[in-house]
Parts: sequence; structure tokens; C-alpha cells
Amino acid sequence: MTELPPFYDDLAGCLAEAWRRLEEGAAHQSGFHTPALATLGRDGAPRLRTVVLRGVDRESRSLRVHCDARSDKAAEIAADPRVSLHAYDPKAKIQVRIEGTARLHGGDEVARAAWAASRPMSRVCYGTTPGPGTPLPAGGAYAQPRDDEAAEAGLSEFRVIVLTAARLEFLYLARQGHRRASFSWDGDAETATWLAP
Ligand SMILES: Cc1cc2nc3c(=O)[nH]c(=O)nc-3n(C[C@H](O)[C@H](O)[C@H](O)COP(=O)(O)O)c2cc1C
Repeated sequence: MTELPPFYDDLAGCLAEAWRRLEEGAAHQSGFHTPALATLGRDGAPRLRTVVLRGVDRESRSLRVHCDARSDKAAEIAADPRVSLHAYDPKAKIQVRIEGTARLHGGDEVARAAWAASRPMSRVCYGTTPGPGTPLPAGGAYAQPRDDEAAEAGLSEFRVIVLTAARLEFLYLARQGHRRASFSWDGDAETATWLAP
């Protein structure tokens, strides 16, 4: 049988492992690199899509994702900041679910710093015309900036989503018995409990 990890029966260890995996996901192509982000549609229905996890700060319990100001997700967050994020790493057999609120940053220090740290290849997406989600007469009937200089124009559409976790749920799958734990925060006050898996 697989050896059990040190966090197996350690509640604080499970939380630390969740943040470690998220940090690793933001830095590398691990299972946590491309989580799913859920927003509430303007009709009240859930909307889900894959995103790239760009940054994690466990001190402030925040996660960073980039998007286009013209996208549905940006409009949805502006209308209702409640979001949820899901990641699963099949190798680690760990699922993390986060619920919290998101804030959109554009044209401020947060957005400028994220833009400065992003690769030219990534910047090109924000210069796409027409904007994301626009119906097209043919699959290729859109344009993108042709060089790095033109891609700079995308900065005006570039948004950073900063998600602050209010609740985090951790699930580790093991033959010896799964471990499921829930952590929630009210300000800085933390509540932690094991849950039946
Ligand atoms: C692997 C992968 C990574 C993606 N990363 C992002 C991302 O970081 N930000 C983003 O806005 N869209 C990303 N997308 C595209 C979204 O999943 C989605 O199709 C698009 O943003 C439109 O979503 P919306 O209409 O809900 O705003 C990614 C898609 C894939 C498959």
C-alpha cells in the first residue's frame, strides 16, 4: 500500500499542503496549474472555465488569474464578486476547492506589475479584435497584434482577478481512508474541521 503522507492526520498540515500545491501550480505545469474558476452568470446560473493560476499568496489567502476586460467572466465578477475555484492533481490525489470573493484590477499597480511580468506571447491575447465571446462569421475571423509593440495595446483590456479565499476544502484520496478537511476564515479568525469524505 502507498505510504501515507505526513499531512494525513494533521489538519494544519492539510491546509499547508493545499497552499503548497497551489503555489507549485502557479510556478510550474503541475496539476494545479490550470484550475477551473466558477462565477455566477448574470442569469444566476453557474459559469465555469479553465484558467491559468498565475500567483498565490498564502499570507493574504489570495490567488491571481489574468483575463480580458471584455470577457464574460470579467463582467460577471464586476456584477457579483462571489467565485469558486477547483483544482485536482491526479498524481497527488488531492482536490482543493476554494470559495471567496474576487476583485478585478485594471490600470492600477497590481495590473501593471502583472503585465510587466507576463510574456509577449501571453500579451497578444488581450489585443484580439473583436473581443472574446463575440460571434464570428467564420472560426478565423478575428485579428491579433502582429508584433510585441502592437501587443502593448492589450494592456488597456488586461485585468487581474485577485481571489481572496473565505473557505478552502481539501480532499486527499487514500486506500487506507480518504481525508477531507474544511477551513474557513472570518477576517483573520480561522475555523478548521475534518469532514466525512
Ligand atoms: C488550459 C487553458 C488555460 C486557460 N487560461 C485562461 C486564463 O488564464 N484566463 C482566461 O481568461 N481564460 C483562460 N482560458 C480560456 C477560458 O477557459 C475561457 O474559454 C475563456 O476565457 C472565455 O471564458 P468566459 O467567456 O467565461 O469569460 C484558458 C483555457 C484553457 C483551455
